[in-house]
Amino acid sequence: MRSAPPRARRAEIIGWGMCVPTRVVTNDDLAQMLDTSDDWIRSRTGIAQRHIAGEHESSAQLAIAAARAALEVADANPREIDLVIVGTTTPDHVFPSTACQVQAALGATHAGAFDLSAACSGFVYALATAHQAIASGEHDVVLVIGVDCLSRRLNWEDRSTCVLFGDGAGAVLLRATEGPAGILATVLGADGSGGDVLIIPAGGCAMPLTAETLEQNLHTLHMNGQEVYRFATRVLPAATEQVVHKAGLTLHDVDVIIPHQANRRIVETASKRLKVPLERFVINIATYGNTSAGSIPIALCEAIAQGRIAPGSTIVLVGFGAGLTWGAVAIKWGAPSAEAAAPFYRHWWRRLLYRWAALRGGWLRTSRAVTVWLIRRTTRRDTYPKNLG
Ligand code: ACO
Repeated sequence: MRSAPPRARRAEIIGWGMCVPTRVVTNDDLAQMLDTSDDWIRSRTGIAQRHIAGEHESSAQLAIAAARAALEVADANPREIDLVIVGTTTPDHVFPSTACQVQAALGATHAGAFDLSAACSGFVYALATAHQAIASGEHDVVLVIGVDCLSRRLNWEDRSTCVLFGDGAGAVLLRATEGPAGILATVLGADGSGGDVLIIPAGGCAMPLTAETLEQNLHTLHMNGQEVYRFATRVLPAATEQVVHKAGLTLHDVDVIIPHQANRRIVETASKRLKVPLERFVINIATYGNTSAGSIPIALCEAIAQGRIAPGSTIVLVGFGAGLTWGAVAIKWGAPSAEAAAPFYRHWWRRLLYRWAALRGGWLRTSRAVTVWLIRRTTRRDTYPKNLG
């Protein structure tokens, strides 16, 4: 008797969450500080408003809130997580990584953690990496976050760029499965020769920050908008077709396409090129602007909340961004809605568990500080090498 072929191990999304800053900046607000108008921004981009991080908000904070929401939907314990991957180009610090901040805040004490830099493609790159980590058998539960606070890297006097972006985070929790649902295929691409089309020139080791670079605004985002537009309208349909083909499907099989939200017109062009009706695309750019690595997971969360994605749906996530980079992921959706998946996820004991996990992170930090202080006090100075003492 022939034995059944081994079933493919893949990654399934079992939890999702998003977080955007509370402060909303409308086009009219911008028109009061810049030579622009609601009509220009809306007609050229589809953007009506964006959420901008306040003084006390940061990428890590948004990422942590989105991750907590994803854990609640999945009804998962943070200690189950094997790996935290954060797609971001606006980390709180050069190091430690934002992923390590998330890992500590969640109390994900068994997880490795790293940031992944692929600009607006960051979430798709991170999702593809998580899928490989799970499909290889190396990890079972992976948390993937896309987050950016590009408002911190914009020149707020440059009307050609600052009107386009907003801040935000989205997260998904993935678990290994051998069932039919999960990630079916991934496609990643890059063309580094186009690096200067979308660039923050200063602040890295090639051009450290100086008074001069600050005065010339070289620490802010510089973009050749028309080149990015041409690139995006080419790769968005191409990557979508590739990933669908790789998954063994056709475009007719795809229920929902969630593109990176950079410009409504880019999505309209992709819809025409693919001959896929615009209604099948998720577009929420009017509310959030371009949230970079946050845009696709935020749109995913909204599509689930609106009931556009249900068990059995086939969806494609497709992104593009600085680098230049692009990528797409085809998914067979398996998880029921948040309420059906985890009817008890709002229970007080679950919240208590997360609070406890967070307190544990704080306790670890405090006990490390106390240990270092005690060692310093009790170690005789002459035991240190001379030049360190
Ligand atoms: N308000 C009013 N006028 C403006 C504004 C503004 N906010 N910005 C530019 N203009 C003016 C320009 O100065 C120019 O004036 P001029 O003709 O007198 O010189 C005129 O509008 C036309 O400017 P263009 O740059 O040619 O405008 P275009 O139609 O190309 O639209 C846009 C610009 C919206 C940026 C478009 O090129 C675009 O969407 N490109 C893709 C951008 C993108 O997707 N970026 C992010 C992708 S990757 C990532 O997410 C990090």
